[in-house]
Amino acid sequence: MFLKSTLKSSISLNRSANAYLNKKSFSSSSLYFNNINPNPNKNSSDHDPTTHFGFKTVLQDEKEKLVHNVFSSVASSYDVMNDAMSFGIHRLWKDHFIKRLDAGMRPGGQPLQFLDVAGGTGDIAFGLLDHAAKNHKDTKSTMTIADINTDMLKEGQNRYSKSKFALENPSRIQFIEQNGEILDKVPDNSKDIYTIAFGIRNFTNIQAGLNAAFRVLKPGGIFACLEFSKVNNTILNSIYKNYSFTMIPLMGQLIANDRDSYQYLVESIEKFPSQENFSNMIRKAGFYVPDKGFENLTFGVAAIHIGVKV
Ligand SMILES: C[S@@+](CC[C@H](N)C(=O)[O-])C[C@H]1O[C@@H](n2cnc3c(N)ncnc32)[C@H](O)[C@@H]1O
Repeated sequence: MFLKSTLKSSISLNRSANAYLNKKSFSSSSLYFNNINPNPNKNSSDHDPTTHFGFKTVLQDEKEKLVHNVFSSVASSYDVMNDAMSFGIHRLWKDHFIKRLDAGMRPGGQPLQFLDVAGGTGDIAFGLLDHAAKNHKDTKSTMTIADINTDMLKEGQNRYSKSKFALENPSRIQFIEQNGEILDKVPDNSKDIYTIAFGIRNFTNIQAGLNAAFRVLKPGGIFACLEFSKVNNTILNSIYKNYSFTMIPLMGQLIANDRDSYQYLVESIEKFPSQENFSNMIRKAGFYVPDKGFENLTFGVAAIHIGVKV
């Protein structure tokens, strides 16, 4: 109840955004538009050969392999652990993210081409298609799920094979193994909607990932990211940090017999840029960012970021 009202209170309606998005056969009930900030952050990883892997400093070339190992290790326990760590709240955030996008082919419009990057188990991808079918009678739009990790893709494919999508129209969903920083299998200006949930903080070069998102979207296409973020209340932040740094690695050890991966998870959240800095990186990639550019969920434990390729 409390969480639902927190989520609800952070939703706001803006007509100009709706008008714009409706033109693109896509609508949102909750976007703000404002001027583009001309002063985006510089990305320090442009020239530095090192990066962070959680709290460790590693060579950029090493990080991809280390992240790969983490997700190969957690793939089979991914859902159970997510539910345990977040008390199931990650499902509310994902539902809200999908509802907020409210994507789907509108009457008389063209089918949409979705791309869900770091799509792993397919939660967001299947949720988006479900929403489009239920709310817009859209059974034509297509989905590409891209992930760098074969084991996570296998989990998604396994789930997909048991879903109604596989029975109804198997060619609607495509899985590709791809680094989201490159996306060389995805043509320029080819996608209407790019989503990424809890994936981008694992990228070695986040700015490269945002630039690739901009490249593959059609003009008017929407970038939408759901990611852990910074809690905006000092007391809550201290409780949250205490919980995450003590309980999450312990749960990882007890439930998945994998303390290190979950230690990385909490450290990677800590290292991810603040809402404001990440918004500036989205602007730097070339996106038009509505208003302040993000919506906090549960006091900023997670946030939704939106950008429009104009
Ligand atoms: C925490 S999971 C999120 C999965 C799914 N989006 C969800 O919300 O349940 C993070 C995913 O990001 C993927 N990933 C990490 N780095 C990546 C990269 N550079 N390119 C594409 N996927 C990446 C991992 O393999 C993993 O599947």
